[in-house]
Amino acid sequence: MNFLDEQFAIFHQRSLPEKMNFFKREGRLFDVVYAQQFDRALLDMVYKITNSLRQIAKTKEGLIYLQTILGHKRAMLYFNQPSSRTFLSFQNACYLLGMKTSEIRDPTISSEVKGESMDDSLRTFSSYTDLLIIRSQAQNVSARASWLLNTFSKRPVPVMNGGSGSDQHPTQGILDIYTLQRSFEEQGGLDGKTIVLCGDLKRGRTARSLSDLLKNFNDIKLIFTAPKNFQMREDILASLDQHQVSYKLETENLRNVLAEADAIYMTRIQDEHDTFSGESGLIDTSKFKLKMDDLPLLKKNTAILHPFPRRDEIDVQIDSDPRAKYWRQERNGMWTRTALIAYIFNVHLEILDYYQAEKSYE
Ligand code: NCD
Repeated sequence: MNFLDEQFAIFHQRSLPEKMNFFKREGRLFDVVYAQQFDRALLDMVYKITNSLRQIAKTKEGLIYLQTILGHKRAMLYFNQPSSRTFLSFQNACYLLGMKTSEIRDPTISSEVKGESMDDSLRTFSSYTDLLIIRSQAQNVSARASWLLNTFSKRPVPVMNGGSGSDQHPTQGILDIYTLQRSFEEQGGLDGKTIVLCGDLKRGRTARSLSDLLKNFNDIKLIFTAPKNFQMREDILASLDQHQVSYKLETENLRNVLAEADAIYMTRIQDEHDTFSGESGLIDTSKFKLKMDDLPLLKKNTAILHPFPRRDEIDVQIDSDPRAKYWRQERNGMWTRTALIAYIFNVHLEILDYYQAEKSYE
């Protein structure tokens, strides 16, 4: 352990509220590291910005206007783990607001192969840019970046977590909730709904962050559907208990719970986190897939989501069923991330005003 490892370990042991406070600047959200940083009011604000942006972006004038908002800023995308959607949606979110982007997606082309520490690399990235978006195979890299820059850098830039290890993926949870809310627009919203989460819930950071964010809604019921060895971990269950969110565990078969579901959130097996080669293959996951012949068991309006990438958890024929929302979900990622960046840079009110003014001309 070097000096920074020791200091970060002390920071990391602080309570969640203390850490969350640390990620704020002048009382406002600055670094997006944990799903727990988002309460209902903040989620509602992000979604209000998202809806305005989507309307503004319908015209060429609107798109050109949006690009002026952060045209003077630059973002760095540091993704040392494979990504298609999260990378592209963050990058295009930056473009929508006019930000220029730099990227390192492969650690073998960064100075880390020359022996540079991750800490030095992170500080370097922040030297050239105004926002650092990070995806990492290891846990806590975003938290460490935020701690490091806020503690030692004269010019700390906001950090956004684009997925950290098997732990957190807050912006995915935010876009998932946006998709759920839109899916339930005509069914009285997300409050009161039963959400089935299925797949590798133990190591699936998207299911973990989504479950944590869902505690912001009323009368939600969660059904964690996974083989025993892939069930949701105790930390998330404890937080749900603490917030009086009701949940149950289904460890036998997805079919047992389909009739109850207002939404189904499918995920893939996260075998990149296996502790030995072939570990995941030892577990029978065949009863935890959504098949074409399961559809008659679903309610008329059950929303089917998946953070993607998908393997065979959802039959491709299901894609043309109106209940399949995953392609929309993917696109929602770009809009919600654009809204979040606008919020962090405190330019969201400008966007909301622009939208109101445009609307009043109609
Ligand atoms: C997820 C991830 O990377 O955690 N993908 C994503 O960001 N949309 C889910 C996964 O890889 O299974």
